[in-house]
Amino acid sequence: MTGSAAIHASAIAKTYGTGDAAVQALRGVDLQANFGEMVALVGPSGCGKTTLISILAGLLSRDGGELRLAGTDPDALDNNARTLWRREHVGFIFQQFNLVPQISVLENVAIPLLLRGDHRGTSLERAAQLLERVGLKGREASQPHKLSGGQQQRVAIARSLVHGPSILVCDEPTSALDGATGQRVMELVREQGCRPDRLVVLVTHDERIFHFADRIVHMDDGRVTRVVDAKSEVAALRAAQAMENPR
Ligand SMILES: Nc1ncnc2c1ncn2[C@@H]1O[C@H](COP(=O)(O)OP(=O)(O)OP(=O)(O)O)[C@@H](O)[C@H]1O
Ligand SMILES: [Mg+2]
Repeated sequence: MTGSAAIHASAIAKTYGTGDAAVQALRGVDLQANFGEMVALVGPSGCGKTTLISILAGLLSRDGGELRLAGTDPDALDNNARTLWRREHVGFIFQQFNLVPQISVLENVAIPLLLRGDHRGTSLERAAQLLERVGLKGREASQPHKLSGGQQQRVAIARSLVHGPSILVCDEPTSALDGATGQRVMELVREQGCRPDRLVVLVTHDERIFHFADRIVHMDDGRVTRVVDAKSEVAALRAAQAMENPR
């Protein structure tokens, strides 16, 4: 399925609140993305990035426009069907990591598998493998609040990948990670998330991870303003940095 349309979004609109308090967060967003690729959304704070990926993840309803995610319009499903669709097909890494405080790190990672009724033993085994991949072997039994911010973020990343989602949406997945850890975790996200029947949409301010993406989508004030090939964007950034810091 590589190259086939995974996301078809056109004229997506979203307003929060009503009357004087209304905030037009998305003003007609068009976005196409294919299976196998990673798309990075960038833009100033408040421009609508989290709103857009929440709609793409089927977590938030749009007010207008057309959306197909692997052929499905999540807003056309009833609540129950949408929840089941999300559990099966979507993975998320939220800006706040949203870990469940009362249960262990290992169980947190296994949640997507346990929710869909997979065998507990094999679910925990798969969760342990991913925890090892994000460098958290030995912390399986810890409670989330005993971990640092960066460690919690890596738990959230492991949890988002555990069920092999068709669509992975990540909101600033490396915000709490040092450079080397960020690179390692992004290699895992790329390997697990960008298979021929999967794709990743990621929001980031972190220029050090742009090179993992295939395309960079620039947003401003509720709209997509530019879509750039990631290689060209990275080359332009390096050229600009070289001009600023000549040896
Ligand atoms: N639940 C909400 N109720 C009302 N307004 C909201 C809500 N969520 C977001 N907004 C507003 O919608 C606009 C877009 O917000 P959004 O969170 O999508 O921005 P963002 O690009 O993700 O910003 P950041 O980079 O700071 O995370 C902002 O003006 C924000 O204040
Ligand atoms: Mg945001």
